[in-house]
Amino acid sequence: MSSRVVVGLQWGDEGKGKVIDVLAGEADLVVRYQGGGNAGHTVQVGHEHYVLHLVPAGILRPGTTCVIGGGCVVDPELLLAEIAQLESRGHRVQGRLVVSARAHLVLPAHKRWDVLRDKGANRIGTTGRGIGPCYADKVARTGVRVGDLRDPDLFGNLTRANVAEKNTILSALYGEPPSDPEEVVKRYLYFAERLLPHVGDAEARVREALGSGKRVLFEGAQGLLLDVDAGTYPFVTGSSAGPGGVATGAGVPPSQTGDVVGVVKAYATRVGEGPFPTELPPEEAARLRERGAEFGATTGRPRRCGWFDAVASRYAAAVSGADHLAVTKLDILGGEKKLRLAVAYKLDGRETTEFPGDAVALHRAEPVYRELPGWTEDITDVTSEARLPEACRRYLDAIEEEVGVPASLVSVGPERRQSLARGVEVGRE
Ligand code: IMP
Repeated sequence: MSSRVVVGLQWGDEGKGKVIDVLAGEADLVVRYQGGGNAGHTVQVGHEHYVLHLVPAGILRPGTTCVIGGGCVVDPELLLAEIAQLESRGHRVQGRLVVSARAHLVLPAHKRWDVLRDKGANRIGTTGRGIGPCYADKVARTGVRVGDLRDPDLFGNLTRANVAEKNTILSALYGEPPSDPEEVVKRYLYFAERLLPHVGDAEARVREALGSGKRVLFEGAQGLLLDVDAGTYPFVTGSSAGPGGVATGAGVPPSQTGDVVGVVKAYATRVGEGPFPTELPPEEAARLRERGAEFGATTGRPRRCGWFDAVASRYAAAVSGADHLAVTKLDILGGEKKLRLAVAYKLDGRETTEFPGDAVALHRAEPVYRELPGWTEDITDVTSEARLPEACRRYLDAIEEEVGVPASLVSVGPERRQSLARGVEVGRE
């Protein structure tokens, strides 16, 4: 198989950045297929620390071409700042990054509306990056696409109409002063000069690569439980974060997207609102948060922390068709006397292993735990399975058993070298 999808099987922040960086060493093309500046993929290369929001993590591998597919939403200011940062740190981007003309542009009013709307009892706790409103415009057919920047007249007309509509909504609902459409048009046409050299028929590039046997890695953002359809709606993002989004977001046949690596952190976290059955009480959560540096890479918000939820990840693996698991941040659990995994829920007086399809029911679910012994050894230098403490191996076995997918890749620290293959190595069967 020449292609592979990397997808999160929790609520995002599973450590996909690190896994993509490791697997990108064998890839010709790395393709983001959904999401936008809401993502924050953290990658550590030696002493260098990177947080990527829009550019695929493959950019840190010199031989790799990166694609931002049409399923993504692009904030040009953010993307250009990210490109400039990468270049200033010695990474060539020109000629190695193709941005789809089909991707939608995040406009300033999308960000304003995202922040203004996300308040009160129905709050989702979004990242405030304009994601929901931008995808809403896409589906309403009132969006403005990256390719529209090539034709200033067309771009101007579409943007003026969009800004006028948003001015009316934001003034009526929130008493906000209007934006000047001419200012938005001018600003975005200024960005266009630097953005357009990267814009092309990204989807055709991906299909060509697949057709000629190149190795394509599809980079998922967020996680399956934040997928707009399969996730814990309405506490989700605005796009298809699961492998289902690859075909539409990267313009490739579903039959060619390849095997699926599902990324799970060795415990669970969630940012923003929404049900989280295995969430720990504040003191215990704070301990895990400190050890695991669980603060949002995009917003800096403290992440909610909890035990590994095998019910949720088993569901996510089933929807994703995960062939392998990559288990990340295993080292962070070192020192916990007892480890717990939720293997079922108690819901309305019944025990179930099914993941409820609605957030209201999930709010009522109480976890049924399986307990395992912990370990105290530092495992951050362990690079072979045989050298892992017995309790560590048992914990990985339990994750495998409960999720029903082999844990083939294990990460024990942020650096590339802090990774070990287990059983059947990813991509080598
Ligand atoms: P939005 O994607 O900004 O609309 O946010 C919707 C929900 O998804 C909120 O709960 C966010 O905290 C969450 N979210 C969005 N992107 C990420 C991510 O990359 N990691 C973790 N959570 C995310």
